[in-house]
Amino acid sequence: MSGFDDMDVDTIWMDGEFVDWDEAQVHVLTHGLHYGSGIFEGVRCYDTDEGPAIFRWDEHLDRFYNSAKPYDMDIDHSREELTEATLELIERQDLQSCYIRPLAYYGYNSLGVSPQDCPTKTAIACWPWGTYLGEEALENGVDVMVSSWRKHASSQVPTNAKTTGLYVNSMLAGEEARRNDYVEAIVLNKEGNVAEGPGENIFLVNDGEIYTPGLAESILDGITRQTAITLARDLGYTVHDEAAISRGELYTADELFFTGSAAEITPIRSVDDVTIGPGERGPVTEELQSKFFEVVERRTDEYDDWFTYA
Ligand SMILES: Cc1ncc(COP(=O)(O)O)c(C=O)c1O
Repeated sequence: MSGFDDMDVDTIWMDGEFVDWDEAQVHVLTHGLHYGSGIFEGVRCYDTDEGPAIFRWDEHLDRFYNSAKPYDMDIDHSREELTEATLELIERQDLQSCYIRPLAYYGYNSLGVSPQDCPTKTAIACWPWGTYLGEEALENGVDVMVSSWRKHASSQVPTNAKTTGLYVNSMLAGEEARRNDYVEAIVLNKEGNVAEGPGENIFLVNDGEIYTPGLAESILDGITRQTAITLARDLGYTVHDEAAISRGELYTADELFFTGSAAEITPIRSVDDVTIGPGERGPVTEELQSKFFEVVERRTDEYDDWFTYA
């Protein structure tokens, strides 16, 4: 992935102000930096014939505000304000497609673990971002390993909140995989069932039916997950979205794929060096993936209410 310095971006929105990229800084004693007390979103905006189109912005905003709730974090910017700021960032920087990163965190005041006296700060940045796991991955699939790290349990932290600090678990799992020459990891939950990827939800296909772990399995309720479930059902598939999936079932699946705003729909071709199905993108994954890209690139009029146009 190329670094920000190679990108043609110059503005970040911070609490009501459009700030020069290089000036968008925080104090080193910021609460969120020490304790991971922030929440965020990752959203894609697609290049379409009708201009840049933000995918499922409303659902991302819902999750953004919901993620703040368990931490008693009061985001004092309305949905309208965040939407206008984002649209203006896209326009000002002349972005046709981009990744959007809304962030809210406890800021600078004191460094007790309690954030009570720290202000809630909010920022939004947008930048160009290609395929997350590589262009080739979308077509040929990725080789993954089951991580030795378990996902934190939803009884320990609210796993349905997209919290900055929780991503050390994702980082450990992902880096362990890459150190071992895999592209990505699959993380099991505390009970040993399949949870998700470090930044992706996971789906399994068997005998033409689709399975994905339920929300009680300590997963993030991915918006691409919801999208894949809807598209698959509309295509006529039976989708079991409350599944409990054992590790062993990964190896014997007909097909496996990841979903995520960054990863989109990425096939998995092997797990722990065991080939999944024929070892290439399977037919169900391909049908769903091609429908997904038809929708997000707006080559169809269907699902237009999923888009916010810049
Ligand atoms: C841990 C985790 N699970 C799942 C997802 C997929 O969620 P979404 O489809 O909303 O991007 C993400 C990415 O945000 C994630 O970080």
